Amino acid sequence: MSRNPRMEEFKMDGKPLKRRNFSSMLYNDETGAILGRTPESWGKILIFYVIFYAALVALFSICMVTFLQQFINPRVPRLQQEYSVIGTSPGLGFRPQPQDVRSTLIWYKGTSYESYKYWEDQLIDFLSVYKKKGQTAGAGQNIFNCDFKNPPPKGKVCDVDIRGWDPCIEENHFSLHKSSPCIFLKLNKIYGWRPEFYNDTANLPEDMPKDVKSQILNMTSYNRDYANSVWVSCQGETPADKEMIGPVKYFPYPGFPGYFYPYENAEGYLSPLVAIHLENPKSGVVINIECRAWAQNIQYSRKERLGLVHFEIMLN
Ligand SMILES: *[C@@H]1O[C@H](CO)[C@@H](O)[C@H](O)[C@H]1NC(C)=O
Ligand SMILES: *[C@@H]1O[C@H](CO)[C@@H](O)[C@H](O)[C@H]1NC(C)=O
Repeated sequence: MSRNPRMEEFKMDGKPLKRRNFSSMLYNDETGAILGRTPESWGKILIFYVIFYAALVALFSICMVTFLQQFINPRVPRLQQEYSVIGTSPGLGFRPQPQDVRSTLIWYKGTSYESYKYWEDQLIDFLSVYKKKGQTAGAGQNIFNCDFKNPPPKGKVCDVDIRGWDPCIEENHFSLHKSSPCIFLKLNKIYGWRPEFYNDTANLPEDMPKDVKSQILNMTSYNRDYANSVWVSCQGETPADKEMIGPVKYFPYPGFPGYFYPYENAEGYLSPLVAIHLENPKSGVVINIECRAWAQNIQYSRKERLGLVHFEIMLN
């Protein structure tokens, strides 16, 4: 007699064994097992799966909620302002940019097309979205006829019309060929940022360049609304640079209109631009230029390069 019942079964003739096992598989009246398990065992399995799936659903829900919170509105960043790495104070940027991203020197020979072509192409490329805004996705139907009295409703965007900024236009090679280059400035976008304007023209900041101040006073005497702008000024960095830079003209005026803010990532939004025209900079020397944006909530620090942009030009 074998000790191992299984071994015994194998030795036996297969047929009756199979039949007996099959019926007892459905219901075993000795142990009360249904399909090989006692009701108690089935109950345990049921409880196990209920808990298992409940945990699975809970985990999945947590994932979905976290995911949706982040992406449910792709136009609204989750981290805003203070919490964002970019910070609350927007910086200025300039175009055209040198090929080497570490460099800030705009250098060319005014008499040589080969030499200024790179800078011209950079500007054409940068301004292309401003020229064909009708074709930018969603921009066409979103464009609103903005002015200081009519800021755009939510979801609409303002036009930036760069066509009339002669001589800072493509047809004129942005005046590069005359060794009196145009440089375009823009304020970096910060979602939801609202400028606090220097709109009390009687109390403009002390350190604001005089030529910009007088232009602001002139402009706002015609239309007070212009005061609600983020002012822009450019000047030589040192007294020597101030002398060499020559007269600076601003197009359309030395400021970004306030109605472009806050930026809320509306389809087709274009940052306002200011073009500066250096009418007669001294050639053959490097001139350090500092452009600054003015609003009460734009921090300014030369050391930390806040609220300003620095670049050099050298024309031969
Ligand atoms: C000046 O700007 C602030 C926002 O920075 C605005 O609330 C206020 O109405 C403006 N004042 C005038 C006279 O436009
Ligand atoms: C103000 O600007 C206008 C147009 O640019 C100019 O003709 C006028 O002379 C300026 N007035 C003053 C006081 O600067």
